[in-house]
Amino acid sequence: MKEHPKIEAGGLKLDNALWLAPLAGVTTPPVREFFSRLGAGLTHTEMVSCAGIVRGNRKTEGMLRLLPGEGPVVLQLFAGDAASMREGAEAAIAAGGRAASSEGASARFAALGVNMACPMPKVTKRGAGAALMNVPGIACEMVRGLKELGFPVWVKTRKAPSGDETDTLRFAEGLLNAGADNVCIHGRTPAQRYGGRADRSVVCAAARRFPGKISASGDVYSAEDVLEYLNGGCVGVMPARGALANPYIFPLALKALGYDVPEERLNPAFEDRLLFLRSLGESSHEINGPRPTVVLLKRLLAGALKGSESAAALRRRAGLTNDLDELMHILTPEKSR
Ligand SMILES: Cc1cc2nc3c(=O)[nH]c(=O)nc-3n(C[C@H](O)[C@H](O)[C@H](O)COP(=O)(O)O)c2cc1C
Repeated sequence: MKEHPKIEAGGLKLDNALWLAPLAGVTTPPVREFFSRLGAGLTHTEMVSCAGIVRGNRKTEGMLRLLPGEGPVVLQLFAGDAASMREGAEAAIAAGGRAASSEGASARFAALGVNMACPMPKVTKRGAGAALMNVPGIACEMVRGLKELGFPVWVKTRKAPSGDETDTLRFAEGLLNAGADNVCIHGRTPAQRYGGRADRSVVCAAARRFPGKISASGDVYSAEDVLEYLNGGCVGVMPARGALANPYIFPLALKALGYDVPEERLNPAFEDRLLFLRSLGESSHEINGPRPTVVLLKRLLAGALKGSESAAALRRRAGLTNDLDELMHILTPEKSR
C-alpha cells in the first residue's frame, strides 16, 4: 500500500483510521494478523479477564500472545473494580515482557483497553463491561489507575443505558477527563445488546464535542458506513460483524479513503482468496488447535469468498465437515492440489 501520512489517535501514530473491533472468540492472534494484512490500522484482542490473568489461567495467558506479523494491538481487559483492573493489567504487561524477549521488541501491546460495553450477564454480574456505565466513579478510577502504567488507555463503551445523548456525552467526558486517550462508542444501549440499528447520531455528537478522541462502532458493513462515521467527526471506525461478513471491507474502505490499494487486495481472484483463508487456517491451527480453527474458518468462509460463483458449492461442502484436514483440502485451489 502506498505511503500515506500516519494519523494520530488515542496516543498512537497509526497507518489509518480503520481498526478491527474486539470480538470475543474471534480476535485471536492469527485473526488479528489476517486483518493487519488486509490493512487494518490497529486491532484488538478479545476481552481478557483480569481475574484470569492474575490466577495464571492457561487459556487466558494464551490470549496475551502477540505474533511478529501483527500491527498495533490494543489489549482489552475486563474487571469489576479498579484494583482488579490494575492488577490484571500489571500482570499482563509482565507476561508481555516475556513475549517481547523471545519474539522481538515489537511484541508489546500498543495500548490498554477497558471493556465498558459488554452487556452479557456473565460479565455484568461481576460489575464489569456495561455495568460500569452505571458507576462512573469506578469507571474513571479504572482509567486513572491504568494511565499510571504508562500506556495509552482506550475505553470501549456504549450509548448510555437511558438512551439519552446528554448522559452518553457526560460519561465519555468523565472518562476523557480521567485520562482516557480514546473512547469508542457503540451506538446501542446495553439493553439493545446487538439488535436494532446502531445510533450514529449519538456517536457523532460525542465526536464533535470531543474532537480527535471518539471512535465509532456499530453497523459498519461498507465503505459508506466508514465514511459516514469519519465525516461525522470520529477519529477511527471499528468494523466488527461487518469484518466477519466481508473481511475485504478493509481494503475497500481504505480505497474509498484515498489510499492506494493494490487491485489484488481489492478484488482478489477466487484462488487467492482461498489461499489467503488457508494461510489463516494454518496459523490458527498452530496457535488455537483444530476445533476452534474449523469454527473460525466456517465463520469467515462466506464473507472471504463473497462474489465468486464457485463459493456457494464450496461452502456447502465445507458445511458438511468438522474435520480440519478435510476443510483445508476443500480450501485448496484445484491447481495447487
Ligand atoms: C461475537 C462478538 C463478540 C464481541 N466481543 C467483544 C469484546 O470482546 N469486547 C468488546 O468491547 N466488544 C465486543 N463485541 C462488540 C463489537 O466489538 C461491536 O462493538 C458490536 O458488534 C457492534 O458493532 P457491529 O454492529 O458493527 O457488529 C463483540 C461482538 C460480537 C458480535
